[in-house]
Amino acid sequence: MNTAQNIVITGFMGTGKTTVGEIVARKLNRPFVDMDVEIETRAGFRIPQIFRRQGEAVFRDMERQLVHELALRHGLVIATGGGALVDANNRQMMSQHGIVICLNASKAEIRARLSENQHRPLAAEWEAHFDARLGAYASIRNQIMTTGRTPEDIAADILALADGALYVRSPEGGGYPILIGSGLLHRFADDPKAAGLAGHVVVVTNETIAPIYAENLVEELPNANLIIVRDGEPHKNLDTVRGIYDDLLALGADRRTTLLALGGGVIGDMAGYVAATYMRGIPLLQIPTTLLSMVDSSVGGKVGVDLPQGKNLIGAFKQPKRVIIDTDVLATLPELQWRCGMAEVIKHGLIAQPALLEPSLWQPEEAAYLVRHAVQVKIDIVEADPYAHLNLGHTFGHGIEKSTNYAVPHGEAVAIGTMKAALLSRNLGFIDDDLVAQIQRILWQIGLPTDIALDTYRWYAAMATDKKWQSGVSRLVVLKALGEAAVVEGLPPEDIMAVL
Ligand SMILES: NC(=O)c1ccc[n+]([C@@H]2O[C@H](COP(=O)([O-])OP(=O)(O)OC[C@H]3O[C@@H](n4cnc5c(N)ncnc54)[C@H](O)[C@@H]3O)[C@@H](O)[C@H]2O)c1
Repeated sequence: MNTAQNIVITGFMGTGKTTVGEIVARKLNRPFVDMDVEIETRAGFRIPQIFRRQGEAVFRDMERQLVHELALRHGLVIATGGGALVDANNRQMMSQHGIVICLNASKAEIRARLSENQHRPLAAEWEAHFDARLGAYASIRNQIMTTGRTPEDIAADILALADGALYVRSPEGGGYPILIGSGLLHRFADDPKAAGLAGHVVVVTNETIAPIYAENLVEELPNANLIIVRDGEPHKNLDTVRGIYDDLLALGADRRTTLLALGGGVIGDMAGYVAATYMRGIPLLQIPTTLLSMVDSSVGGKVGVDLPQGKNLIGAFKQPKRVIIDTDVLATLPELQWRCGMAEVIKHGLIAQPALLEPSLWQPEEAAYLVRHAVQVKIDIVEADPYAHLNLGHTFGHGIEKSTNYAVPHGEAVAIGTMKAALLSRNLGFIDDDLVAQIQRILWQIGLPTDIALDTYRWYAAMATDKKWQSGVSRLVVLKALGEAAVVEGLPPEDIMAVL
C-alpha cells in the first residue's frame, strides 16, 4: 500500500463516511480528519450557524481552503463534507494526491438512516441536494454501495482499493474490488475478516483443485466447509447444481453463508449460479484459478450452467462481493489451460487494449501485469454494458464447443472463433488482410489453433442456438479496427458460412 497517499472518503450525508473513515484510520494507524468537524473547530461555530450568519459561499470557501491544505498532506484518512467534492476542482485536487472513494446508498436507505437522527434536515432540502449531487458523485471512479452492509465490511473494500485493487461498478450501484497479486490466497486465509468475510463459508471446488488448494484453505479458515464436484465442462449442469444445493442444506448453510468459488470458469459459473439461487441468493466470493477465469469469467457477474441443447442456457447475474486473483496458483495450471486463457487475453487486446498483443508479456512471470491489464478491459466492457458483453469470437466458439460435444476446450474454441470473426470483419470491409494475418500469427505463436475441420452446417446450426442470436437473427461481434469492436446483426447466413 502506498502509505503517502491520502484515502479520501466522500458521499452524501448518511452514507457513513465518518464511521467508516474512523475504522479505516484505526486499521491503518493513520490520522483521521473529518472535514466538517475540522471546519467547525476552526470557525468556532457549528455548520448550520456558519450558513446562517455568513452564508453558504463563505462555508464553501472554508471548505475549498481545507481541501487544498489536506490534499497536500500525506497519509491521512479524510472524510469530506457531503458537498465538498461536488466541486470539480476540489475533486481533482483530492484525487491528484490520494485515492477518492465515494460511498453511496439509495434515497430510501438515506431517508431511513436520517430519520434516526434528531438533527435531521428537512426532507425537501436533503432530497433536492441528493438529486443535484448525483452527477458529481457518479463521476468518481471508486464507488462503494453501503446499503445493507456493516461499516467493517465497507472499510474492508476501502482497504482493498487503497491497496491497489481494481474496482467494478455494478449495474445496481456500488461495486466490488478485484485484488490481484502474489500470495493473496494465504493472506486471505490468514485474515478472512480483512476481506470482509465473517461467519460460515462454503468453498466449492472440483476434484483437481481440492487437493492442491482447497483442502488447505478450508483447514485454515475458521468456519468453513468444502464441497467438491467433478471436474470439467460436461459437469457444468443442473445435476451438479442440484448436488451442491443438497450439500449446502446438509451443511446447514443459510442466507448468511458465503459461497467461495475456487476454480476455473466452470466452477465460477456453476458456484455463482448456486449463490444466485440458493435461498434466493447468498454472498459470493470468486477466487479464479485459471488464466481464463482470472481475466474473464470471474468478473461481470454472468453465472450459469449448460443444457444438452446449448451452453450457458440457464443462468443469472450474480455480482461477487469481491474477486481475489492470486497469480501464484498459475504455477500448477496445465500448459493447455494457460494457452486457453491467453486466447481471452488476446481477445481483450484485439477489442480494446493492443498493448496486450506484445509477445514479451505472454509469460507466466508477467502474469500479474498481464492479468491486471486484461481485467481492466473486462471491467470497462461490463461497466459500459453489464448485460451484453462484447465477446469477440465467442458465438463461433460456442458453436464449436457444442457441435463437438465440448471436446474442444473453451479457450481453443475462442481462438478459432476469434480467427473466424477476424475473417468476417475483413469480408465486411472493416479490417485488412494484414491485420488478419497478424491475428493468425499471434494465435499460432501462443500455440492456439485458428481453424478446425467441422461440418459447417452443424457448426452454423450450433451457433444459431447462441443466446445472443435473437429470434433467428444473427448477432456477431466483429472488429472495426485494432482495438475497436462492434456488433453486427442480421447478416445473411451465406456471409457467415463463407468464413466457417
Ligand atoms: N461467466 C462468464 O462471463 C464466462 C466467460 C468466459 C468463460 N466462461 C466459462 O468458463 C468456462 C471455462 O473456464 P476455464 O477455461 O477456466 O475451464 P475449467 O474451469 O474447466 O478449468 C480448466 C481445467 O484446469 C483445471 N485447473 C483450474 N485451475 C487450476 C490450477 N490453478 N492448477 C491446476 N489445474 C487447474 C481445472 O480443474 C480444469 O480441469 C466455460 O464453461 C465457459 O463457458 C464464463
